[in-house]
Amino acid sequence: MSLINIAVVPVAGMGTRLLPATKSQPKEMLPVGRKPVVQYVVEELGQVGVERLLFITGPGKTSIENHFDLNHELIQTLRNEGKEELLDQLSFERASIQYFYTRQRQLLGLGHAILCAEPFVRNEPFVVALGDSIIGLTEKSRIVERMTDCFENQNADAVIAFQEVDPMAVHRYGIASPKEEGDVFEVADLIEKPPVDKAPSNLAVAARYILKPSIFDALKRTEPGAGGEIQLTDAIRILIKEGAKVYGVKLNDTNTRYDIGNFGSYFRAFTEFALADEKFGNEYRDYLRERLKKETDADHS
Ligand code: G1P
Repeated sequence: MSLINIAVVPVAGMGTRLLPATKSQPKEMLPVGRKPVVQYVVEELGQVGVERLLFITGPGKTSIENHFDLNHELIQTLRNEGKEELLDQLSFERASIQYFYTRQRQLLGLGHAILCAEPFVRNEPFVVALGDSIIGLTEKSRIVERMTDCFENQNADAVIAFQEVDPMAVHRYGIASPKEEGDVFEVADLIEKPPVDKAPSNLAVAARYILKPSIFDALKRTEPGAGGEIQLTDAIRILIKEGAKVYGVKLNDTNTRYDIGNFGSYFRAFTEFALADEKFGNEYRDYLRERLKKETDADHS
């Protein structure tokens, strides 16, 4: 059995940057290629042995519950019609993960959302996977596996995934001050959404964390920070200041992060997954080639 079998997936955010698409549906349910965003996240967690998964939800998020529930009527209809291929598309419903849901009743930030998981997590380490970020083009991104190895080998108190970002974008992320160079490094400090001139590096927190229950006590002592919200980054920072060993694991080429938090990155993510689709990818590629060629030809005429 894997060391870490509990996951917490916060999905409470309102997704205002994706309005109007998110007016009456969660951003986590937007399709990227054939699946909704959150299905990739759950499949990634299933691959690394997560058995119990708690969604931290909010108003308007019940379609996430429905998505991971068994839909007997639909299964029966597809079976009666002999639509085996479509039935296969529902196999994720039978994953052995047990799903749990709790509501973050006040939207006070990511740190506050994680604090809602305290009674569920109790004494075990757990993984946090943000429900609006897909890592890797397949469910086998292995980032959580690499993070778990680091957690065990370094006897760490927390491990965080990091990606290198454009220095002009650091104000959108939690940014690390690394103690050393490398794909795995100890974190000396963390700053949530610093202005570019205050950022200690361009290493940005990338939507996956392994935490111990000690985070809950730190979260209770965390004052509102960037954006007036209780930030997970700030709670981890408290742990570091108190002597905890926090490590970073860098995403590599096979586990790019696809962020579904704004339209620019959502469109890019959709294109990547559509191009990588086993069945429809080639057709889409041909279409895009033709489409862009027309544009280039028009520019040159
Ligand atoms: C959150 C975290 C931030 C992290 C980002 C991407 O920010 O607070 O540290 O870099 O997710 O994983 P948000 O995108 O919710 O503003």
